[in-house]
Amino acid sequence: MEYPVYLQMTETENVVAVQGPSRFWEGQKLGQRVLQHDVVCHTWPERQRVLDMLEPDGPWTRISKESFNRVWSPGVEEPDLEFEAHVELARWTTFGISSKARWFARVTTLTQLRAALAWAKEREVPLLVLGGGSNMLLHGDVHALVLQVDIRGVDVSPQGATGAIVSAGAGEPWHGFVMQTLDEGWHGLENLSLIPGNVGASPMQNIGAYGVEVKDHFAWLDAVRIEDGALERFDTSNCQFGYRESVFKREERGKWIIVRVAFHLDRESPLRMGYGAIEHELASIPVERRTHRDVSEAVIRIRQSKLPDPTVVGNAGSFFKNPTVPAAVAQKLAEAHPSMPQYPQEGGAVKLAAGWLIEQSGWKGHSRETHGVHEKQALVLVHFGGATGQEVWALAQDVMASVHGKFGVQLEPEVNQIQMHPSA
Ligand code: EPU
Repeated sequence: MEYPVYLQMTETENVVAVQGPSRFWEGQKLGQRVLQHDVVCHTWPERQRVLDMLEPDGPWTRISKESFNRVWSPGVEEPDLEFEAHVELARWTTFGISSKARWFARVTTLTQLRAALAWAKEREVPLLVLGGGSNMLLHGDVHALVLQVDIRGVDVSPQGATGAIVSAGAGEPWHGFVMQTLDEGWHGLENLSLIPGNVGASPMQNIGAYGVEVKDHFAWLDAVRIEDGALERFDTSNCQFGYRESVFKREERGKWIIVRVAFHLDRESPLRMGYGAIEHELASIPVERRTHRDVSEAVIRIRQSKLPDPTVVGNAGSFFKNPTVPAAVAQKLAEAHPSMPQYPQEGGAVKLAAGWLIEQSGWKGHSRETHGVHEKQALVLVHFGGATGQEVWALAQDVMASVHGKFGVQLEPEVNQIQMHPSA
């Protein structure tokens, strides 16, 4: 069968577009409004519903795409989609560096997002998608349409006796979402407490901390293709997760906007306390009494003691990735520097601690008045106020050159470097 199949229920204005055997979009007209649902059928009875709709003798009649669209999106642009010009971006990124967006729009629905994409395509304006703005350094003004994706909503679909698939709109702030899952007893994300940014950005770079990564609980994500506005679902294998990596940072870079992310959570998810600092923080609580909430609180205390709060001092978390080197190189480095932390990886390579390398190169706490290297964690570059993105980038390059000079190891930024000024 060729999808989508467009249908209308007899004598009503309810329409569906069947996207495949286990997914359909449903539009229900309610007065002047249209309720739009994107329904994914996880179980057999739900899939049977799709088959029933496609039955030729049933209450659903085939209609054209145009008839479907007349109900689904009646052609009126949603009124609150505004395109603002020359918008200051300092408050939209956690670095808090001043930079102007040529165009700026905030989208809260799929329809608005598609309208904004069409607007940019028509004018041949490039796009910059902002989630929480927690992983980017803007090198100058942004000659683009900056889209703030503020699609919200958390949805729980119970699975088996103790599990659930919990999904959240891309615009939900990550930490608030983690707290909500814990409040409701859906466990698994507690080690990722207090990470800045929004849900939509979390799979992009497979955020991770204290022994857990997004990929460990990832179920699926929905993303809109920038080219044509099509909505597609990605599972774990399509996302190709790696350390601070996914397909969205590589082959599919700049092609998709993530709108919803779902996680496998479980009331009985095991507590993960293997990371030394967590065990140390929880030492006063007997092992059998420790809860997921305790782990979350321990992570919050550790993060607060080492990492600067972006609402107080501008930063984007770890500015550099921890580098990986071949075993032979690691061996030589260990001989020359016996105290160097090394983390052997599957396949024989060895991960090094960029923070340690930077500290040993003398940069921890280094200050250039407006910006510098954090005094408690050398992986983090900080912005005290008044620096340009290029100045912060110059500091990052000095740090990289110095680490390379001392250890022969090339650091790579983890934070996205954004250069979209007219001359770039
Ligand atoms: N270290 C130093 N000096 C420093 C910082 C670290 O000597 O200034 C040493 C530490 O003593 C330790 C080793 O380096 O022996 C590793 O440090 P830590 O355990 O603090 O973790 P990290 O490698 O610095 C990574 C993530 C963090 C995440 C923590 C905890 C990366 C790039 N960073 O940091 O992620 O919170 O582990 O899991 O992988 C982020 O991505 O923004 C971030 C903060």
